[in-house]
Amino acid sequence: MKESKEPAGPSELYTFLLKFATHRGAFPHSSGERAESCAIIAHMAGPEKTELAEVIRGLIRSRGRIPFAEFMDLVLYHPQLGYYNSPGEKIGPHGDFYTSPNVHPIFGHLIARQLHQMWEILGHPSPFNIVEMGAGKGLLCADILDYCREHLPGFYDDVRYLLAEKSAVFEEKQRALLAPFSARGKVEWVSPGVLLSGEKTITGCLLSNELIDSFPVHLVQQEGGKLREIYVVDADHSFAEILGPLSTLELEAYLRDYGAPFQEGQRGEINLRALEWIEGVSRSLHRGFVLTVDYGYEAEELYHPARRQGTLLCYFRHTTSPNPYQRLGYQDITAHVNFSALMRKGETEGLHGAGFTEQYKFLTALGLLQDLEKFEAGSERYSAAEFLKKKLAMRNFLIPGGMGSLFKVLAQFKGLEEAKLIGFQDPFRPAPVFGQNST
Ligand SMILES: C[S@@+](CC[C@H](N)C(=O)[O-])C[C@H]1O[C@@H](n2cnc3c(N)ncnc32)[C@H](O)[C@@H]1O
Repeated sequence: MKESKEPAGPSELYTFLLKFATHRGAFPHSSGERAESCAIIAHMAGPEKTELAEVIRGLIRSRGRIPFAEFMDLVLYHPQLGYYNSPGEKIGPHGDFYTSPNVHPIFGHLIARQLHQMWEILGHPSPFNIVEMGAGKGLLCADILDYCREHLPGFYDDVRYLLAEKSAVFEEKQRALLAPFSARGKVEWVSPGVLLSGEKTITGCLLSNELIDSFPVHLVQQEGGKLREIYVVDADHSFAEILGPLSTLELEAYLRDYGAPFQEGQRGEINLRALEWIEGVSRSLHRGFVLTVDYGYEAEELYHPARRQGTLLCYFRHTTSPNPYQRLGYQDITAHVNFSALMRKGETEGLHGAGFTEQYKFLTALGLLQDLEKFEAGSERYSAAEFLKKKLAMRNFLIPGGMGSLFKVLAQFKGLEEAKLIGFQDPFRPAPVFGQNST
């Protein structure tokens, strides 16, 4: 177990839960009296990368306005100045938010059991490729490999772990953490573009945790009986939003095929990149599974009129804000995932549904409660404070309304007749079939 991964104390646990419990709050916006110039002036607050703001302003000057998706792409992924390409802690107690692998290694251990069963279903292929996209600091990879080496040695021998990371800064962190595995040829890196081109196909599982929520999204709003797009313009040392015609007809098609009708004034996000991604994933998978963990909903719930402002949310030092125009380059921007789009588009690309459930059910079916009981039975191995800290961290995965239920797990398969995965069995009547050596 890596101590540093767990929230340090109750107050940090609270901010951790915030990430998973908070929905986009009210962001001031025009009622649409001036449909073409529905301005939202966003004054900047807190630190901001002026150089990044200048790059964006330059682009706006040359084009008049840019779709929000382009703004978000630059703010998060500008090669030097973007949030994900800048040095500094992003994830964990000294960063801006927690993700499950940063909470407790048990998350990776339980996923390892699911991967092991996938290997069995596929007839023990060697190599069995685990391809993780957007692995952040690489903790999930380390936890999965640690667990397999100790408890599932036959599986471990056949595993080849590939990481596909867009951020050079995160790739460097991954290479440092995973050096003992890469030195033995167990872990390799592949560029996301090459992976998704399908140039080389793999047998195994494409895995991601909180990847899709970090893709740039288009913002749209129903106004005057029509779907309009939100653009970003320069507004005298700040940025403003205006409504305009759709930058691509794909947005309308997306809502028709994967969305739900919007009510007047309703705003929402459209993640076209997620569609490209699932296409690429299917191209690169010869035979096996796609396991996607992220927060979000199916379309009807995601685009429900009650969620009138959409789900866009920013994270900075464990606080959330609905305003993406402040702290440029210093705050993360995310949007909830539309799982219906991944399922329906996946199906047309030959990826069939193997299961979709809440994360707490998935982890429980894989033995979370039994592992928690085992941990509690061995409490004498820890000091009282350490024991409580670890126990709280593990219990996070079970808290209703928190990450356990907001987060979902989607499994898809290709090249098989069917796939009955342990993680999608009734979690409260578990009959887990773990590997013979697994605990
Ligand atoms: C919110 S972080 C999640 C990190 C990690 N999976 C975790 O759970 O801690 C998003 C990660 O996805 C990466 N990313 C975003 N878009 C990507 C893409 N198109 N290809 C590969 N990685 C991507 C980011 O650089 C970052 O490492």
